[in-house]
Amino acid sequence: MAERTKAHEMAEKQREISVSEFFSKNRHLLGFDNPRKALLMAVKEAVDNSLDACEEARIIPDIYVELQQLKEDRFKVIVEDNGPGIVKEQIPKIFGKLLYGSKFHRLRVSRGQQGIGISAVLLYGQLTTGKGMHVTSRIGPKHQAHYFEIHLDTQRNEPIIKEDKTVEWKKEHGTRIEIELQGTYQKGKQSVDEYIKEIALINPHAQITYKTPEKETLTYARGITELPKEAKEIKPHPYGVELGVLIRMLHSTTTGSVSSFLQNDFSRISQGLAQEICDKAKVNPRARPSTIARDEAEALYNSILNTKIIAPPTDCLIPLGEEALIKGLKKEINAEFYCAATRPPSVYRGNPFLIEIGLAYGGSLEKEESVKIMRFANRVPLLYQQGACATTEAIVDTAWKGYGLSQSKESIPVGPVVVVLHMNSVWVPFTSEAKEAIAHYPEIIKEMKLALQEAGRQMASYIRKNVKAREQQERINLFEKYIPELAASLSELSGEKKEVIKLELEKVLKKNMKDLLSDVKEAEKTEIKGKNVAYGEKQSTLGDLNGS
Ligand SMILES: Nc1ncnc2c1ncn2[C@@H]1O[C@H](COP(=O)(O)OP(=O)(O)OP(=O)(O)O)[C@@H](O)[C@H]1O
Ligand SMILES: [Mg+2]
Repeated sequence: MAERTKAHEMAEKQREISVSEFFSKNRHLLGFDNPRKALLMAVKEAVDNSLDACEEARIIPDIYVELQQLKEDRFKVIVEDNGPGIVKEQIPKIFGKLLYGSKFHRLRVSRGQQGIGISAVLLYGQLTTGKGMHVTSRIGPKHQAHYFEIHLDTQRNEPIIKEDKTVEWKKEHGTRIEIELQGTYQKGKQSVDEYIKEIALINPHAQITYKTPEKETLTYARGITELPKEAKEIKPHPYGVELGVLIRMLHSTTTGSVSSFLQNDFSRISQGLAQEICDKAKVNPRARPSTIARDEAEALYNSILNTKIIAPPTDCLIPLGEEALIKGLKKEINAEFYCAATRPPSVYRGNPFLIEIGLAYGGSLEKEESVKIMRFANRVPLLYQQGACATTEAIVDTAWKGYGLSQSKESIPVGPVVVVLHMNSVWVPFTSEAKEAIAHYPEIIKEMKLALQEAGRQMASYIRKNVKAREQQERINLFEKYIPELAASLSELSGEKKEVIKLELEKVLKKNMKDLLSDVKEAEKTEIKGKNVAYGEKQSTLGDLNGS
């Protein structure tokens, strides 16, 4: 018999690891690192899916969220939508199998991308309570509603169906999930409450009803009645593809020749361009893609990089738009001035993206605190990992002193401001599976900074006008108050009648007011009116001055 080596001994311990086992041990990678965050993740994954499903089916979303506290650290999470529902056969896999979904293989703007979100919630619930997920779904009035209780077999990463039946449901279509999990509920920053508020702000077309653990029902009414435009799917841009991916694509394509592969499986490659790429790579354009050897694929890859190809199409992006952003801000934040800026589309690693900014200033916002940053990716609030996010780098690198806020070196500015920063893309480069922070691509940071500057300028002009007008008004008020006293003293000194002096002083005050008015009006005229929308609840205190 052959000698038994250490390697043989080790071989006995080597075995496959299922993705569910991996994430059970590494649940922090999916965002379930503590009970407070876990509760938020459960709500977030379900609500994000509901919004995605409604929009894909062109249904104006109506979403119900409920948190029931069962014990100190045990909650039941309920999320119900009026979406298209889920076909019965698909339900077990969607909820009971990690990495199963409809969005991963498509380049299309959506909240979900990985096919892991809702099954991760089931995995966590099952780990902490031993219970599964209850799902009710109905796809239309002519179909019955189906109810499932699903668990997850972590060793095989497959669903286990504990119960499967048809039920009566008042809803014509939609999906409802219920799950028990270990969690803690706290209000404030990074809470479920904050997430719901921010999701309502950035999705003004959605109606959200939220029943808190304290049994209070909060309704976030719609701010607009139109759905965002329909998301278009695009093909990958050749510049964004890595060699390994190109090789895999060559082997799995359904096209018959390299030329048609290049034209069909990528965006922006015409017949002429395909020919040019093949010529440069010395590859026969009529060759079958599956017969292309590794060195030929590398030649094709280099040839693509050395060929001028226009940027990917950008009509696939779905910005909120400046007006909707301002409506959302006004709905959820009590300030005195609001402005927004949407940047033109740009590209990172072959993926189109765009950045939008909303700013709210003054009103009830805190003057002495750091500016409040609200980060969003494809209309999803990002509540954790602010320090690790590209948005933070862009904000810290912007010179806010020029826009009227105070800022110490390389830090978040201080002032009564909320900054809303939204990245929209067919693929958001998150730093982890928990989708909490945007990776630091230079192209993305550059666009964020340009957007911040655009909105910053609008805010600065408002501050300039208003602070000036307000200060002048205060000075006038003070002077007016002292006129009688001043007149009395001057009358004693000069022997002139007090009434005469008072009249003279009032004349001086009136003249000063006139000069001030024309100064401020002049400043308004010379103000460069940008293309962006800016709304001031109180554009200046001129009205008050005129009236007095
Ligand atoms: N409420 C729902 N209504 C209709 N379809 C749904 C609903 N929830 C989930 N789905 C379907 O189930 C799939 C899997 O959802 P899951 O949250 O696991 O992944 P995802 O949303 O594709 O990506 P991510 O992991 O980034 O969330 C979705 O792609 C979608 O097709
Ligand atoms: Mg999802």
